[in-house]
Amino acid sequence: MKILAINGSPKGGRSNTYQLTRAFIEGMKESTEETGEALEVREIQANTLEIHPCLGCFSCWNKTPGACCIQDDMRQVIQGLLWADVTIWSFPLYYFTVPGGLKNLIDRQLPMVLPFMVENDNQTGNGSHPSRYDMSGKRTVVISTCGFYTAEGNYDGVCSLFDHICGRDSYTTIFCGQGELFRVPEVSQRTGEYLGYVREAGKEYAAGGIHPETEEKLKELLYPRETFESWADVSWGIDKTEGGRESDALTFTRQMAVLYRKESYAGKSQVLEMYYTDIGECYQILLGAEGSQVITDGSGTATTRIETPLSVWRSIAAGEIRGDEALMKGLYKVKGDFNLMLRWNDYFGAPGGSSDGEGHRAERGRRGDGEQKGSRKTGGIHTPDRETNMNIMLLPWLCLWISVGISSQIGSILTIATCLLVPLVFYRNKKTLYDSLSGVLAGGCSMAVLLGGPVRLLLPLSYLSFGIMWTVTCFGKIPLTAHYSMNDYNGEDALQNPLFLKTNWILTLMWGILYLVTPIWTYFLMGTGLSPYMGAINSLLPALMGIFTVWFQKWYPAKVARGE
Ligand SMILES: Cc1cc2nc3c(=O)[nH]c(=O)nc-3n(C[C@H](O)[C@H](O)[C@H](O)COP(=O)(O)O)c2cc1C
Repeated sequence: MKILAINGSPKGGRSNTYQLTRAFIEGMKESTEETGEALEVREIQANTLEIHPCLGCFSCWNKTPGACCIQDDMRQVIQGLLWADVTIWSFPLYYFTVPGGLKNLIDRQLPMVLPFMVENDNQTGNGSHPSRYDMSGKRTVVISTCGFYTAEGNYDGVCSLFDHICGRDSYTTIFCGQGELFRVPEVSQRTGEYLGYVREAGKEYAAGGIHPETEEKLKELLYPRETFESWADVSWGIDKTEGGRESDALTFTRQMAVLYRKESYAGKSQVLEMYYTDIGECYQILLGAEGSQVITDGSGTATTRIETPLSVWRSIAAGEIRGDEALMKGLYKVKGDFNLMLRWNDYFGAPGGSSDGEGHRAERGRRGDGEQKGSRKTGGIHTPDRETNMNIMLLPWLCLWISVGISSQIGSILTIATCLLVPLVFYRNKKTLYDSLSGVLAGGCSMAVLLGGPVRLLLPLSYLSFGIMWTVTCFGKIPLTAHYSMNDYNGEDALQNPLFLKTNWILTLMWGILYLVTPIWTYFLMGTGLSPYMGAINSLLPALMGIFTVWFQKWYPAKVARGE
């Protein structure tokens, strides 16, 4: 397949629109790589070509049929159009139509048609000119971004133009409003996600046609109208009342405030205080039920205060560095209520999105992948990952410890049944290695008891193997508890978060040690009349540890965030 992409933005390679076009081509490449079809791509940046306006002399029709009298770069464009199987017209919307330079290029296609008047039912019904060349089988894609909040209603002129050129319903379009957001790193989480859909569209197009659900995704607004328009307004960095220039830090804070999602309001207003340590400026954002408000005079009472150099926070917002990594490195501090940080994505994430920038990071790295944390991609649509569940791992052990002490035979049969039933009951959940290992170990212990093995030895051994399983994971990259608690911290992406991992490392080690020492007293108490009560006795310390765990999970990250 031969693809010609013509970018008509005067900005050339810096064009917002061209980001979409690149993603689309990447998707097409992906598809042809899968099918083994050869793919050739030629790109034309119209702004780098010398293309003069048509003189209207018709010499390409009468004096030199098929050849224009102007000697400029249009020849190579026509060669490209004749060469390509698929032509992608890529341009920004200018005054509800194509930019002037591109219009010149379109006009200069006149040598490609014959002068005769023909009727073409497929077209608009008001006459057309037959092609000088065999253009049958060639396909056209039109990709464009515009500056208003929606593409809807803005593209009548463009559609009318391409209806006449290609024929009604004979070309594919991707029109996207809020186009200027594609150059804004701070919102590239959302634009990256969108580019992921464009890439998917390219893939589907190459394979036959864009699926309706992908088309729907491409029609979705990047941000709600109100958010986008407020964001666009504050982006100029101009004070609304006096019209003067605002400081960069204030503009940045206002942009952040605009992205606040009031749906995340949890029944109590909060004041987020941003203290930019490098420039000594401090602003507050009131996060309320009705939206956000920037306070410039410091009159709010901060619930959470972030002390950061502006450059660091900009890099985090742009997805260049991870916020959690920067926190661990001490690049910024958080004082006051840390909960806001834990729920940052709910407050400031992209609408409907679930990632903290993975989308755009992936997009920048792989242009268009847009894979999101805690999600997997099916046909371009992101669906949440299946969650893990700690009960799958714990239930066989609990059954063993409680029931075998009371009745070794019934207890072991119950435990084996639990091991077999748990995967069925939790069939919707994602299984971990430790779920399987627990089934095998607890089931194995029960089997040994059933076959007449000594309970006094086997029960302590089961605690020991449980303790070893937990402790050993502290020597690896991901401690055991992280596999389960990640569900509450945005899924698998939490496994990249050093603070999350460290918190879990400490907890896993503590739990591991508890179960490494539990066998000692278990062994001795099993020799006394207390053996039926072992399950209850050995639940006391874990209950206390459970309370400690709940507290520690919140306390420790907040302590690190304070820079202590
Ligand atoms: C001269 C000019 C005219 C524009 N006219 C429109 C318009 O009619 N409707 C619209 O929604 N956006 C309009 N825009 C905004 C651009 O379409 C928008 O910024 C686009 O994303 C730029 O894409 P590019 O970076 O690929 O050039 C206009 C921009 C300029 C500079």
